Amino acid sequence: AKAPMRVAVTGAAGQIGYSLLFRIANGDLLGKDQPVILQLLEIDNEKAQNALKGVIMEIDDCAFPLLAGVSAHSDPMTAFKDADIALLVGARPRSAGMERKDLLEANAQIFTVQGKALDAVASRNVKVLVVGNPANTNAYIAMKSAPNLPAKNFTAMLRLDHNRALSQIAAKTGKPVASIEKLAVWGNHSPTMYADYRFATIDGKSVKESINDDAWNKDTFLPTVAKRGTAIIEARGVSSAASAANAAIDHVRDWVLGTNGKWVTMGIPSDGSYGIPKDTMFGFPVTTENGEYKIVQGLDIDAFSQERINLTLKELTEEREGVKHLLA
Ligand code: NAI
Repeated sequence: AKAPMRVAVTGAAGQIGYSLLFRIANGDLLGKDQPVILQLLEIDNEKAQNALKGVIMEIDDCAFPLLAGVSAHSDPMTAFKDADIALLVGARPRSAGMERKDLLEANAQIFTVQGKALDAVASRNVKVLVVGNPANTNAYIAMKSAPNLPAKNFTAMLRLDHNRALSQIAAKTGKPVASIEKLAVWGNHSPTMYADYRFATIDGKSVKESINDDAWNKDTFLPTVAKRGTAIIEARGVSSAASAANAAIDHVRDWVLGTNGKWVTMGIPSDGSYGIPKDTMFGFPVTTENGEYKIVQGLDIDAFSQERINLTLKELTEEREGVKHLLA
């Protein structure tokens, strides 16, 4: 039997946590033959720690055959000990009257501490996914706070945007999502992200040619994907959680187990590809193999796409500038 892998999850008593933990323990993340140990972090306050206890009782009550252990933590230094996978979901939400700048700074604080803790105690091969918003900048901060870990081990979640785009294309073309390949989402996990189906195919046939409607792309598709989070809050009263948890599972599973040549979107530190400055935590189309991702190279960037990419890059650069003083 395989040795258990340690999966640390922050914000474990939150909404996304409640959809995520049970699927990890069920084998959806790392495979049905891979035992897991859950190391769950919540903030050091009674209400959150009690809620976490309750969630753990429910996890226990599922009697998951693959679950080799579960522990509750309020200190990242113990939560991240020897972690093979770290899902950084917990973040500071925007409260009333909070400026964007305050939000960035509050989160910078959290992700500096957590980056340092990962640096100190996690497995040297830890794979980190940041879900908590602003996800790209939080991932960048964690990466910069962990100089002893490879920068490539830090990633941000754009998979929900990718999956949202897939579902819109499937609905438009009337074809199953599983038949769609070669979709890309560029940039920041925010409404500026650029979902790009110019290279996408369905059963080998060009999606762009089948849809053949640039106005639909610009006026319907892109705004629908960009504003999907808001639409869900308006409909449900709370933000997307199960779909976010599902995207986190997709992201890490594909990273660990490989995509067999299929393109997926990951927020990763740029290597300079497509003119994105090195280390910028940016959504790119990637393929993965043997636990490593590779940016899909050689794609033609037309004027419209370049404009969109510049816009999302500008936003990320501004976010980074806003927290620079905290990274000294
Ligand atoms: P939630 O508010 O229900 O849960 C967050 C949990 O994190 C809370 O239980 C809180 O106590 C905990 N937490 C806060 N700071 C923490 C810290 N320093 N250490 C450990 N735990 C901490 O929020 P929800 O719905 O679960 O969302 C979590 C985050 O994911 C939010 O920032 C949200 O904006 C983001 N998100 C990102 C998406 C993406 O595509 N990248 C999609 C959907 C949500």
